[in-house]
Amino acid sequence: MTAEKSLKRFGQLYGSSMAMETMYRQLERVATTDATVLLEGESGTGKELIAHTLHRASRRAERQFVAVNCGAIPAHLIEAALFGHEKGSFTGAVRQQTGYFEHASGGTLFLDEITEMPCDMQVKLLRVLESGCFHRVGGSEQVRVDVRLIAATNRSLQKAVQEGSLRQDLMYRLAVFPVRVPPLRERAMDIELLARHFLDELNTQAGTRKQFSRHALDCLRNYAWPGNVRELKNLVHRAYILSSEIVQLELPLARNAGRASLADGVLNFPVGTPLADAQRELIMATLHHFSGNKRLTASALGISVKTLYNRLKEY
Ligand SMILES: Nc1ncnc2c1ncn2[C@@H]1O[C@H](COP(=O)(O)OP(=O)(O)O)[C@@H](O)[C@H]1O
Ligand SMILES: [Mg+2]
Repeated sequence: MTAEKSLKRFGQLYGSSMAMETMYRQLERVATTDATVLLEGESGTGKELIAHTLHRASRRAERQFVAVNCGAIPAHLIEAALFGHEKGSFTGAVRQQTGYFEHASGGTLFLDEITEMPCDMQVKLLRVLESGCFHRVGGSEQVRVDVRLIAATNRSLQKAVQEGSLRQDLMYRLAVFPVRVPPLRERAMDIELLARHFLDELNTQAGTRKQFSRHALDCLRNYAWPGNVRELKNLVHRAYILSSEIVQLELPLARNAGRASLADGVLNFPVGTPLADAQRELIMATLHHFSGNKRLTASALGISVKTLYNRLKEY
């Protein structure tokens, strides 16, 4: 890596790739509104951090941000958890209890893993979103709250609707402003920037000056990051603890599952793929196409056989 690229940010979100910049612009626009936002992205891509960032950038910043994982609450408890319950409404309900909607009053409610919510609750949620009011379990009093809703899912919405785990009407209601959060492998240039950022944070906290080895940086680039930013952050943390001055990383090479995909003789790169990586993928795919014949490969790529040898030696 020659010239250091600068790390851009939006609130607590870091990343300078085109995909992130596009998302920052979307988030900036929607943050100050009360529109419901639906975040769709793989686990570890930063959905909860985005929800929090939206909250902090909104007029609700001084009020509560309440995050609820719909998949983590047993189906029979979720209604009371969201809307609260009245005293005596079920065995053990010894006093009135407010739910997440009321906790988030004036603020933001983040409903994570929305497709895990039982279907009958989805109907109730939709009704609340449309009417703006609800009643606590076992109660008859209408409660009206001013809550901004942000929902997230790590599954494809289309698929979830097809499979019946997400009601279509609720999906439309939630998706006033849908945001697709790209997986880390589609933001190739952010991988190293984020890794350095996380290492800097650890260095600052502990007053150390640890640095990545060259090999560690190569490893970062050649890995597919199925666990996305969460995996990267945890990996850097673990490596930081295990290393003294120079931080080493060992990662399995997962090139094909990574950012370049090859189908029917066509290579696909996301915008923002480092040139060196694109070049490597192109050379390797062409070599494969010509069954390892270096002369044909070099001729097709318009380089000398000597240059091809040099590149292959590097890889
Ligand atoms: N763009 C980013 N910049 C800095 N940290 C990030 C970014 N995206 C994710 N993280 C960090 O990665 C971890 C996983 O993020 P999280 O929001 O919980 O992901 P998700 O909800 O999509 O599973 C958190 O520690 C979060 O702070
Ligand atoms: Mg999450």
